[in-house]
Amino acid sequence: MRETLEALRQSAVGAISASGSLEALDALRVKYLGKKGELTAILKMMGKLSPEERPVMSQLANEVRAQVERALEEKKAALESQALAARLEAEALDVTMPGRAVTLGHRHPMYIALDEIKEIFIGMGFTVLDGPEVELAELNFDRLNAGEGHPSRDWSDTFYFDEDSRVMLRSQTSPMQVRAMDSMPLPIRIIAPGRVYRKDEVDATHSPMFHQVEGMVIDKGVTMADLKGTLNTLVEALYGKGTKTRFRPHHFPFTEPSCEMDVQCHKCGGVGCPTCKGEGWIELLGAGMIHPRVLEMAGIDTDVYSGWAFGIGLERTAMRRFKIADLRLIFENDVRFLHQF
Ligand code: DAH
Repeated sequence: MRETLEALRQSAVGAISASGSLEALDALRVKYLGKKGELTAILKMMGKLSPEERPVMSQLANEVRAQVERALEEKKAALESQALAARLEAEALDVTMPGRAVTLGHRHPMYIALDEIKEIFIGMGFTVLDGPEVELAELNFDRLNAGEGHPSRDWSDTFYFDEDSRVMLRSQTSPMQVRAMDSMPLPIRIIAPGRVYRKDEVDATHSPMFHQVEGMVIDKGVTMADLKGTLNTLVEALYGKGTKTRFRPHHFPFTEPSCEMDVQCHKCGGVGCPTCKGEGWIELLGAGMIHPRVLEMAGIDTDVYSGWAFGIGLERTAMRRFKIADLRLIFENDVRFLHQF
């Protein structure tokens, strides 16, 4: 029996130290120490031993059991710490790896130009107004002194919603002048940017939807000199100090006198080139002194108050500001285009 116990001790300790997993280790525990295990089988034979041999073999058997148990415990601890180390290794976070890039959008060049315009006018004490794109013809035309029969009211030019031509997509931001006069106390200093709509075919300089910024001042003793001074400030802020402007007589139903303002060509400096079509000047906006009839229709006393107004195309302003050749680029929103500004 001694030999059997010694052999068991040897094989058990060897197998335990060679086992590679917690499952294999558990199988070994069952194999040697379990109810049907090898050591248990040996113990069952103790009864057959002589009374002298029995205590000696019992002691040896207990020793072997204790040693196998210890070997199992130690191996279990070793395997567990190995598994933990492997898991820590596998789950380790490499903080030196590059992060995932966040793709950002880009501000649209036209809105960059609009923000510049807003900043200039807010700095001069103007309020920025927002108004409806679906507008009454009354405000878009009648209240702006363009009565029945005025060519701009034609169905071939304007998007109407009804047979009676009363509700329309505004064709200009000028009805915001009327909305301001009807709702604000005097004096008034406002700009009103927004979308406008006309029945135009799309090409390099036209679109059925585009943007304007309306500007208006009504106060006591306001003159054309104030209009010119303000617009020159705008142009110098947008296109640089010393940018030259000129004012040409024009006609709008809601201003008298009316004018258009040109800016000296940034390409040729006024000599004449393809950009300015040989003119040396580029048309930028329409403006004028508010027609007394427009003020009177809003109940404003023209003996006390006068005012000026202007309307500027935002796409054109941005195109000139950023030297963009084709209007369609403004609306396509190709990120490769937008990222250039
Ligand atoms: N509303 C005009 C247009 O769309 C632009 C304009 C001209 C606005 C003169 C004004 C102005 O306020 O005074 O062509």
